[in-house]
Formats: sequence, C-alpha cells, structure tokens
Amino acid sequence: MSGGAGFIGSEFVRQTIASHPEDSVIVLDKLTYAGNVHNLDPVAEVPSFRFVHGDICDMELVDTLISDVDVVVNFAAESHVDRSLEAPGQFIQTDVFGTFVLLEAARRAGHDRFLQVSTDEVYGDIELGTSSEGDPLRPRSPYSASKAGAELMVWAYRASYGMPVITTRGSNTYGPYQYPEKIIPLFITNAIDDQPLPIYGDGSAVRDYLHVADHARGIDTALRTGTPGEDYNVGFGGATNGREIADLVLAALDKPDSLKQHVRDRLGHDRRYAVDTAKLRSLGWRPEVPLERGLRETVAWYRANEAWWRPLKSGEFWDFYRRNYKPLDAGAARPS
Ligand code: NAD
Ligand code: DAU
Repeated sequence: MSGGAGFIGSEFVRQTIASHPEDSVIVLDKLTYAGNVHNLDPVAEVPSFRFVHGDICDMELVDTLISDVDVVVNFAAESHVDRSLEAPGQFIQTDVFGTFVLLEAARRAGHDRFLQVSTDEVYGDIELGTSSEGDPLRPRSPYSASKAGAELMVWAYRASYGMPVITTRGSNTYGPYQYPEKIIPLFITNAIDDQPLPIYGDGSAVRDYLHVADHARGIDTALRTGTPGEDYNVGFGGATNGREIADLVLAALDKPDSLKQHVRDRLGHDRRYAVDTAKLRSLGWRPEVPLERGLRETVAWYRANEAWWRPLKSGEFWDFYRRNYKPLDAGAARPS
C-alpha cells in the first residue's frame, strides 16, 4: 500500500496487522511533510511488515514493488485543501499522475484488487440531502479536482482493461496521528498552547466528521467484501460547523471562548458535504465513534503525545501558517 506513513494510512496498517496477521504489508511512502515514519513504530518490528521510502510517481520503483503484491491500496496524496489553493501543481503530480503510475504498474502485473482511497469532496458542495455513489462528480478546489481526476483514471482502467478496482469516498477524518494543519488537530494543539483558534469566515461551513478508526475499518470492509468496479461512501452522518468544533475543543480542554478568532475565509470554501453510506452499511460496516467521544479521546491523545506533534509545529509549518491565515477584513475573494 502507498501513503501508509500518513494519518489514515498508518491507522489502516496498524489495524490490518492486528486484525489480519496472515497478511504481509509493504508500505511505500515518500515521507512528505505530512508523512511520519514514527506513525508506524507500533508495527515496525512485525516480520510481515516492510517499509519502503519512495515516491508513487517513480515508475521503476513502483513496478518492482508491485510485482510482489496481490492487492494495492492507494492512500498516497497531497491532502490539504488550503495548500492546494496556494500550490496546485504537486496535487496534480501526486494525486493524479501518481495514481496513474500505480494503476499502470498494477495493470501490467495483473492484480486481485486495487483500492483507491478518495474523498467525499469529489461530489462538491451540496446544499441539501446526501450524495450517493452514482451522483456526478463536481469538485471545486484543486485538491478535490485532483482526487476526482484520479478517480476518472481508475474508472478508465476499470472500463478499458477490466481491472478489479474499488474506490472509497471518505468524509472529513480526525483522530490520533493527524498532522496538525487540519481543523481538529490544529484547534486542539493551538488551544493547548493558549493560541487562537482560526475559524474561517463566519464558521458556518459544515463537515461530516468521521473517526479515523471507523474510516480505516470502512476501507477494509470495502476492500475485502466490496464488489470490484464499485464505489463506496464512508461517513458518520453528522453535520458540524467550524464554530461548533471550536466550542467542543475549548470545552474538552477547559479553555476560554476568547480563543476563538474569525479569520479570512477559504477561497471557494465548500459549505457542506454529506454522503449516503447505505451501500457500505449493506456490507456490515457501521461507524462506531460519535464525535463528542472521539473528540474527547483525540484531545486526550494530543495532550499525552506532545513529543509527537510539537516538533511538527516549527519551521515550514509556521511559514505556511503565516501565508494562509489573514485577518477577517483582508477580503474573502469567494467566487461562487
Ligand atoms: P496525509 O496527508 O496524512 O498522508 C498522506 C501520506 O501520503 C503521507 O504519508 C505522505 O508522505 C504520503 N505521500 C504523499 N505524496 C506521496 C508520493 N508522491 N509518494 C508516496 N507517498 C506520498 O493524508 P491522510 O489524511 O491520511 O489521507 C490519506 C488519503 O485519504 C488521501 O488520499 C486523502 O485524499 C484521503 N482522504 C482523507 C481524508 C481526511 O479527512 N484526512 C478524508 C477522505 C479521504
Ligand atoms: O471531506 C474529506 C476531506 O476532509 C479530505 O478529503 C481532506 O483530505 C481533508 O483535509 C478534509 O478536508 P476539509 O477541507 O474538510 O478539512 P479541513 O480540516 O481543512 O477543514 C474543515 C472545515 O474547517 C472547513 O469548513 C474549513 C474549516 N477550517 C479549517 C481550518 C484548517 C477552519 O475554519 N479553520 C482552519 O484553520
């Protein structure tokens, strides 16, 4: 699998090794700013586990590795929407071209299954109701357009070469080992340090927050019991806005409301995603971690693991932070 040193990928590896000890796992990961080999420390000594430091865009390396495996699961991606707004090129390179390299190598080797980890953001902003797997893809950010581009390539390999591909479309995921740039780990680590929690615009955009353990189990269910050629939504079914996330984090840490700070909105900010998960549920999967509990446990994890995240909040992290976060009156520039 690729991208296994990241947030969701490393949870998937830890779960797979615990639940399926008969499986061998090879992780290919470039270790970008978001990848952290220490996320795999709990399995590093397991004989059936192997880590390879490398890029999914490296065709020669991918060809060599893929000839040794039966199943490919692709987590590798640039994953932060705000970074895609600043510099889309790397997203197209990794998320689209990298997926093509994996597909092409898998086609040549002939595989039992190829699972592409995608996102509910490919459906775009929806005002009402839920997105189902058959709905059109209407991505609106460079990140979601790259993920949709990867999906279209996956579909092309299914239609053209009959490859046994499965795609999962997960909602906004949180939990331990998440690089502290996404809203939940950023707000938790800022609040621990009594720093402001930067809420985009009026803070009313909603997301369906899903615990990483539930997301990884959902991917495993789709991989092992899903039908090749099908796509599966993964979500909890909630709708929580940015102000509410700030309130939950502040309450869990017993910090004052005054830490909430409204900042300039994200460009083209999608207001709402919501997915219908009946198809994955029909395979027996259910999300198990409600947001209030998951958030309390995540807060406890970040409190107990400062040695994991403190080194990440330095250097390039703050350079990006300064470029990304602007005062509310700096102009929202939101084309619709
Ligand atoms: P992450 O940013 O934490 O991890 C990405 C991993 O991919 C890192 O380990 C990184 O080093 C690796 N990587 C990046 N470019 C690479 C390359 N060229 N070659 C090899 N490895 C490379 O991301 P995440 O949050 O764990 O997301 C994993 C996947 O799930 C992504 O495909 C993302 O689009 C998707 N997803 C994420 C969420 C979410 O809320 N985090 C929700 C739905 C879907
Ligand atoms: O829905 C799935 C997607 O969820 C994944 O595909 C992406 O990889 C993942 O990053 C996530 O994307 P979002 O844009 O939803 O996540 P993020 O944490 O960046 O933002 C969540 C909401 O919080 C969104 O409405 C923007 C807002 N926000 C975000 C940050 C980082 C803030 O208000 N302040 C912030 O500092």
